[in-house]
Amino acid sequence: MKIILASNNKGKLREMRELLGELGIEVLSQREAGFDIEVEETGTTFEENSYLKASAITALSGLPAVADDSGLMVDHLGGEPGVYSARYTGNHEDSDIDRYMYLLKKMEGVTDRRAKFVSAVCCTFPNGDVIRTRGECHGNILYSPVGEHGFGYDPIFGPDCSEGSMAQLTDEEKNAISHRGKAVREFIEKLREYYADK
Ligand code: IMP
Repeated sequence: MKIILASNNKGKLREMRELLGELGIEVLSQREAGFDIEVEETGTTFEENSYLKASAITALSGLPAVADDSGLMVDHLGGEPGVYSARYTGNHEDSDIDRYMYLLKKMEGVTDRRAKFVSAVCCTFPNGDVIRTRGECHGNILYSPVGEHGFGYDPIFGPDCSEGSMAQLTDEEKNAISHRGKAVREFIEKLREYYADK
């Protein structure tokens, strides 16, 4: 079975391929499937945005599409950057490093460093059916970046259930504890039930 990932984010694509590959599902990026579009993320929740992204690709392709909308929520910042994680600095040209350094600056002198990663996964089907799941990974904002793996805010996030930063974990180790790993594993269960009912 083929499924289009409604994203061109290389980090997400790599993680999704590893997770869904176990089920024998071939994951194509939007670009590989020939849909080089940027869906506007106008929602105010991860759930709204993942639905917007997946349904736009299903409407164009006539195929099932899965989207993950995800981000980092920092307690001291009232849940920021949240759905704005990918565009936190306000400048699209900025890099992951620019964004996490911007966040670290906001956290200077702050002792409450609790935070969580959230992932809302949504899969849309051409007949209008929708599968949704959500995963969270709790931890702390570190004082300085460490680690070379992963992407986004991984170097400044210390998950509760492991030592060091998320960027010090291999893809396999990260998927075992991450927000996206949890959401995708639940999605796989729901997908199995969905096809079993057909
Ligand atoms: P989206 O593509 O709109 O869902 O943006 C997600 C953004 O949240 C990414 O660009 C990263 O900045 C951040 N993010 C989401 N998941 C992760 C993760 O697993 N590690 C680090 N940053 C993440």
